[in-house]
Amino acid sequence: MLKQYCQEKCLIIDEALARFIPDHNVFPPIIFEAMRYSLFAGGKRLRPIMLMAAADAVGGDGIQYLNVACGLEMIHTYSLIHDDLPAMDNDDYRRGKLTSHKVFGDGMAVLAGDALLTDAFTTMLSQPDIEAEILLKVIKEISIAAGAKGMIGGQVIDLSSEGKTIDLKTVELMHQGKTGALFQAALRAGAQLANAQEWQVAALTEYAQQFGLAFQITDDILDVTGSQEKIGKPVGSDSRNHKATYVTLYSLDEARNMAEQTVMKALQALSKFGTEADVLREMVRSLVNRDN
Ligand code: IPE
Ligand code: IPE
Ligand code: MG
Ligand code: MG
Ligand code: MG
Repeated sequence: MLKQYCQEKCLIIDEALARFIPDHNVFPPIIFEAMRYSLFAGGKRLRPIMLMAAADAVGGDGIQYLNVACGLEMIHTYSLIHDDLPAMDNDDYRRGKLTSHKVFGDGMAVLAGDALLTDAFTTMLSQPDIEAEILLKVIKEISIAAGAKGMIGGQVIDLSSEGKTIDLKTVELMHQGKTGALFQAALRAGAQLANAQEWQVAALTEYAQQFGLAFQITDDILDVTGSQEKIGKPVGSDSRNHKATYVTLYSLDEARNMAEQTVMKALQALSKFGTEADVLREMVRSLVNRDN
């Protein structure tokens, strides 16, 4: 069920992204080429899919919120382009292809990220058929999640912890920021756009926090045990950069246990939902076995 759900949504998301970032009659063409290069390199589209799955879980129809969903993917893709730059993780591969700066140069990669981030807001603000007040509230939450109090805050802890030993609390804070914040924004956006009740938004927020943490723990594990072919990015990037991760703090087995416990907590958060939340249940269950 999950595979089919994701495939269906991916097709719709990809078609919409291609419309939002056009490749003809645009000037200067190079920036659109660079934006599209990274956007269409084969990402899993988890954040827009989760926005839709959250809307579906509260009785809405997630596909209606395509503009906001695509905006999230644009923000996420920008964050990856910048994360890979020589001044950050200095990685040569992403989504199975050479990284943006390897193809277009550092300056153009910075600009492609800037453009994706900025144009994400135009895209989200163009969301049709939503009350302006709800849309503004949701976009404000997304901007906070992507900013210094969210994703960037996490990236700052990540960068300034290189070569240092940090405690579990700080690693959790870093993961919540760099990875959790955008997932949380995705789930809350889907729920709120679909007029969810308070308890549903609260439960999905708790689910998202646990999902984000489990997702990043497995990302840390895959950096050690994965294969570049499957994860589409270099293995061993974290140890080369002396990053503080769950795997430097704990053994691989301990990290796997923690990921499993976190998945259980995410499932508990969905306990009051019926079968309409099964996609979200499957998504978090699939994390512990993921290989990409
Ligand atoms: C990778 O995210 C970066 C992290 C936040 C760990 P994904 O694993 O969702 O990357 P794509 O979008 O599928 O490439
Ligand atoms: C990246 O974390 C998080 C963001 C881009 C915000 P990582 O540095 O662990 O992601 P990967 O492993 O390069 O995908
Ligand atoms: Mg990084
Ligand atoms: Mg990285
Ligand atoms: Mg990583």
